[in-house]
Amino acid sequence: MAEGGNRVVIITGVHGLVGSETAKFFGAKGFLVVGIDNDMRSYFFGAAASTAKNFAVLHDALGENYIYHNADIRDAAAINKIFAEYGSNIALVAHFAAQPSHDWAAREPFTDFGVNANGTLVMLEATRQFAPDAVFIFMSTNKVYGDTPNSLPLVEQAERWELEPSHPFSAHGIDESMSIDHSKHSIFGVSKLAADVMVQEYGRYFGIRTGVFRGGCLTGPAHSGAELHGFLSYLVLCAVAGKPYTVFGYKGKQVRDNIHSHDLVAAFWEFYSAPRAGEVYNMGGSRFANVSMLEAIRLIQEIAGDKMSYTNYAAARIGVHIWYVSDVRKFQAHYPAWKYEYDIKRTLAEMIKAAEGGAGGGGVLAVAKK
Ligand SMILES: NC(=O)c1ccc[n+]([C@@H]2O[C@H](COP(=O)([O-])OP(=O)(O)OC[C@H]3O[C@@H](n4cnc5c(N)ncnc54)[C@H](O)[C@@H]3O)[C@@H](O)[C@H]2O)c1
Repeated sequence: MAEGGNRVVIITGVHGLVGSETAKFFGAKGFLVVGIDNDMRSYFFGAAASTAKNFAVLHDALGENYIYHNADIRDAAAINKIFAEYGSNIALVAHFAAQPSHDWAAREPFTDFGVNANGTLVMLEATRQFAPDAVFIFMSTNKVYGDTPNSLPLVEQAERWELEPSHPFSAHGIDESMSIDHSKHSIFGVSKLAADVMVQEYGRYFGIRTGVFRGGCLTGPAHSGAELHGFLSYLVLCAVAGKPYTVFGYKGKQVRDNIHSHDLVAAFWEFYSAPRAGEVYNMGGSRFANVSMLEAIRLIQEIAGDKMSYTNYAAARIGVHIWYVSDVRKFQAHYPAWKYEYDIKRTLAEMIKAAEGGAGGGGVLAVAKK
């Protein structure tokens, strides 16, 4: 309990996957967790994806160490009021509230940009005005690179696309030197990129200790999976409930690296403990934990038995990556104590167990061939 003292951690998107795991972690260390979330996820993806249930989870886990505000990050007056209350006691601002889906963003670009870009600016300004000594962590995305990863030389294998072995990114994945310019990002990619660069700028220009984490797929049992967001989570939900799963394009051979929220939060702790200003890190499962959709389906079959009813093939979604594996060596070089604990099998086994606890059901697995 000693590490937190009377120090405050402000977490936006506190009821989401990353927010709730971060809240549990810092709450357990004795920090007062002040959480902000307006359950906008249910507006984006429907009632089934609501994160409101995590209020009870955090309240039970943290008791009086958890204070919740049902506030919108776009509402500067409401956010400033929260910051004014805690002022210089704020040790960390962990900003995770977002519209997180490519596909949804095109439906309402103003809403997407309002939440992702303007909402981030509201959080940065509140930090600068009320808690300039706080550390600021922002969860960005690998979509800031747009579809540039799709121009890498890929080779088709039986179950996955792979990078040409002679390519410099082949051994460790894509590093931060990839261009964020001259590519198709999707509306979501642009709103996140605007926020990403602004967070860096508050570090470089104002000297605030800001860290940008460009995530691959983030996952774990706390994820409220939806068809258009949360690949492994939604796949596991389909498998356990016996619902058909739809693969969008690339023959199911598209590769994603997946980092478990536990390993991600451990990285946040390292950054918080020795912060830098205006840093940006690619953060994902890297070569340690990556998987294609076909491989993930096979692994789920191996772990859970015949659970997945079938898989349809639909057209590829605009701008999605065919192969993306994060090179995390920059973060590892800055924070050598950080280690992965969850590979894909361990993550999947935990997610299946969690989903079986809640969802029940099952089905006959017969993956439809193209
Ligand atoms: N999950 C992934 O695979 C992934 C990958 C890369 C980056 N990211 C980024 O990580 C961050 C966290 O992702 P997550 O998976 O935990 O998302 P999530 O959808 O599970 O959680 C986000 C939370 O923010 C809340 N929220 C949304 N708009 C809000 C607003 N205007 N005001 C207050 N609260 C609001 C939602 O209700 C939700 O509870 C996001 O910035 C996302 O873009 C996620």
